[in-house]
Amino acid sequence: MSSSPNRETLRCTACGAKTPIEDVPSTCPACRGILDLELAAPSGRATGGEATGIWRWAEHLPSCDPENRITLGEGASPLLATARLADKTGLRDLWIKNDSIMPTGSFKDRAIALATSLARQYEKPGLVLSSSGNAGASSAAYAARAGLPLVVFVPATAPEAKLRQIAATGAQLVTIDGNTAHCCRLADQLSREKGWVNLTTTYHNPYGVDAYATITYEIAALEPDVILLPISSGPLLAGIMKGYLRLMAAGIVTSIPRPIAVQAEACAPIARAFAYGGPVETWAHRATIASALNDTLEGYERDGDYTLDWIRRHDGTAMAVDDDAIRAGAELLATTEGILVEPSAAVPIAAIDRLLEIGLIEKDERILAVTTGHGLKDMSWVSVRTAPNDYPANADLNAI
Ligand SMILES: Cc1ncc(COP(=O)(O)O)c(C=O)c1O
Ligand SMILES: [Zn+2]
Repeated sequence: MSSSPNRETLRCTACGAKTPIEDVPSTCPACRGILDLELAAPSGRATGGEATGIWRWAEHLPSCDPENRITLGEGASPLLATARLADKTGLRDLWIKNDSIMPTGSFKDRAIALATSLARQYEKPGLVLSSSGNAGASSAAYAARAGLPLVVFVPATAPEAKLRQIAATGAQLVTIDGNTAHCCRLADQLSREKGWVNLTTTYHNPYGVDAYATITYEIAALEPDVILLPISSGPLLAGIMKGYLRLMAAGIVTSIPRPIAVQAEACAPIARAFAYGGPVETWAHRATIASALNDTLEGYERDGDYTLDWIRRHDGTAMAVDDDAIRAGAELLATTEGILVEPSAAVPIAAIDRLLEIGLIEKDERILAVTTGHGLKDMSWVSVRTAPNDYPANADLNAI
């Protein structure tokens, strides 16, 4: 364990109580509210010496001794200008931050790398989480590398590639005949019973927010006007906004982009509350091709309200797109730019038409879309068109 004094605390966003980070807690021990990590003010230097990836931004992360950092090379993902996709969508200046190529194929690696490192730093005996698949696959990899036991609760309907990705590392995979909210209750219970760190990447894992803020440090120089994001409960959005607040405090940026949160129409509790101006309520479960975004928020609706606050405070929007638009978005991204993402990660692309139509974005603005999950995790939307069966023996090559 580190002998260096901690420069951070976790403060409950509901009751204000402070909790020591040494416990690596999930929620507020007093009221189960969402915990926010309070870090020392940034110096403006913003680099962590020789460290790479997320640890390059060590002064924006909780303290963790270098030997306790569990890393697979997460962070520093490509920031790509698009020409063909911009042209097809009618935008002049469209960029992709491609977090789908993180070590296990999703942006979750940033959050899981940090929380697993803290589990190591503070000598916690095990890890547990609820996941729709990606965070589970990420945790499975980081737990293996840390040599820590892990139990993953996943809906049995999760894409097969994600289930296999988890099983491959030897993590204990428990498939549940229910949705992610059911899995979440089980993870919460097991984490309390065993004293294991809860990695669930809703706000049950409060370290995700600051881990995702590293995306901000990687994109800040681009100075986008708008950031388009896929959201489920929303820590990715909160993290990116929190990152901007820290850069603002350090005098590194002078403005903050508008966040546009995109959900799947079949599961859109936050977009619905945004549209009606009310609090977030549990969503009735329905299937969607965007399985990674299919969280009804039952039992932790407050996570949705917390995200909604970030959206409203920064002049953002929450909206939803249907499965046909999501498929078309994934196809457009693959065919114009060669970037293959899972359906959930295509929702920002799917939203562009509508956002332009209703004037929520302008065609001359600098737009950045964050892509979050790799296409190889869920290829269900791709149909394979093959050449004739007798190719190449008898095929007329001129006809191909
Ligand atoms: C591929 C993908 N995109 C987006 C999200 C949503 O992110 P958040 O949980 O921060 O709302 C998830 C969450 O599971 C995901 O797996
Ligand atoms: Zn509290």
